[in-house]
Amino acid sequence: MSCPKSITRASAKPPQGTCYRVLMWEESALSPETLRGWEQQRRELLGRMRDAGSKGARGLLSRLEKELNGLTVSMLEAPLAQAPRAAFSFARAEALGEALQAHDAVLAYRLGAATAEVLMQMVGEESVADMLERWQAATPGIVWCRQPYVQAMSAAEGAQWQAACRGEEEEADTPEYTPENFHHITVLLKEAVEALQPAEGKVMVDATLGGGGHTEQLLQAGAEVWGIDQDPAARAAAKARLTQYGDRLHVVAGNFRNAVEMLQQRGVEQVDGLLADIGISSPQVDCAERGFSFLHEGPLDMRMNPSSPRSAADIVNTAPESELADILWQYGEERASRAIARRIVQERAKAPITTTTQLADIIAGVLPRKGKQHPATRSFQALRIAVNDELGALEALLESGLSLLKSGGRFAVITFHSLEDRAVKRYFEHVCKPEIDRPEWPAPRPNPAYAARLVYRKPLSPSEAELAANPRSRSAKLRVIEKL
Ligand SMILES: C[S@@+](CC[C@H](N)C(=O)[O-])C[C@H]1O[C@@H](n2cnc3c(N)ncnc32)[C@H](O)[C@@H]1O
Repeated sequence: MSCPKSITRASAKPPQGTCYRVLMWEESALSPETLRGWEQQRRELLGRMRDAGSKGARGLLSRLEKELNGLTVSMLEAPLAQAPRAAFSFARAEALGEALQAHDAVLAYRLGAATAEVLMQMVGEESVADMLERWQAATPGIVWCRQPYVQAMSAAEGAQWQAACRGEEEEADTPEYTPENFHHITVLLKEAVEALQPAEGKVMVDATLGGGGHTEQLLQAGAEVWGIDQDPAARAAAKARLTQYGDRLHVVAGNFRNAVEMLQQRGVEQVDGLLADIGISSPQVDCAERGFSFLHEGPLDMRMNPSSPRSAADIVNTAPESELADILWQYGEERASRAIARRIVQERAKAPITTTTQLADIIAGVLPRKGKQHPATRSFQALRIAVNDELGALEALLESGLSLLKSGGRFAVITFHSLEDRAVKRYFEHVCKPEIDRPEWPAPRPNPAYAARLVYRKPLSPSEAELAANPRSRSAKLRVIEKL
């Protein structure tokens, strides 16, 4: 399938001009040439500021850098015991955000690898990327990134960039997707919408907006909808499809793992329904340039959010052999995980593995084809899950989703493979149990997590008619709970 050209690079690089960026990067990953390059670009940036009429540019830049350094130092020095870890991180990130927004000018700020690691441990995150993602959600006006260069933006471009980060306006470089070329058939549409009971006056969250198939039905029933997606292509297609609903639809750019924070920042505390239709959309798989499919030659990418830091090629070419094997085993249940990981490491020593078909051929060289399934199917699924941390995001949504719901509000999740469904089933059953019993206890005890009831005892699956019309729906399962 042909796909819009700008798709994978949609937000990878900001335009040129005067800048609003916070730069964070790992210094240890940078060569002296890169550092020299950074200084060079910093000087160019100052030059551009001066040309743009910003008087005292150098002083302003160093004052801003000093302020931010001060804030980060206080972040490191403040005794940890004084505040809960996550709150501590957010308060500081917000303070940084305020300091930035107070100056509608240039900012370039460095955080070294060691500092980033320390911060990450202090706030209990598993990776620097996760930490940045949470900070991004806490401070949507700022772009946090780890790129070893300073890019400049004009004030107008900066404002557009910030608005796009807040999900309020068109992306700076909106992909060319429209409802006509974004072909995704919505799965379990009737079932999910019926379960959520949308109506006029109700507020719903669609945490996986995609092409807007479920959201359209919620809007048609009169509800107001907050639609979240991390993929700019999906947001563009959904916006174009749903313009007629005006301000009853709010499109939010971001990862649903941060849904609660993202909505709170927009003044939304409690809603009547929350839907997550987990996984990828058809255009993501079908577009060769996105790099999800071994059937189409394309860059080995697989990022749903094209500006997230780690692509499939990064993992395949840099992860240690044991990590590769673990990914293939845990997320793909691939029995030949070790042999495939070993072969990948041998091949990448000869030349980097950069395309989908290159990787598919390497895997096919280890595993002979049996039956209909391509030997790379499980490995590609595993890499996709790892690249997008799909299970981590789902766990975070499950843990926080109920807190978004009003009493009587419904939480519906559609999954497409057993790893996801297992996580949803376990969590839903856990919060629906009034009591917990253990063999070592004399009697059952109240369950402190008890907060909901199962709407359906068994998951709903697609009907025969849906399966015939859309074979991609075959593994879908819908589970629904209602908050007490
Ligand atoms: C199966 S599609 C949703 C389709 C949609 N329900 C429809 O009917 O058009 C899943 C969408 O969720 C998005 N997505 C997946 N994981 C996400 C996450 N952690 N945060 C935000 N969006 C995510 C993907 O980019 C994709 O567009």
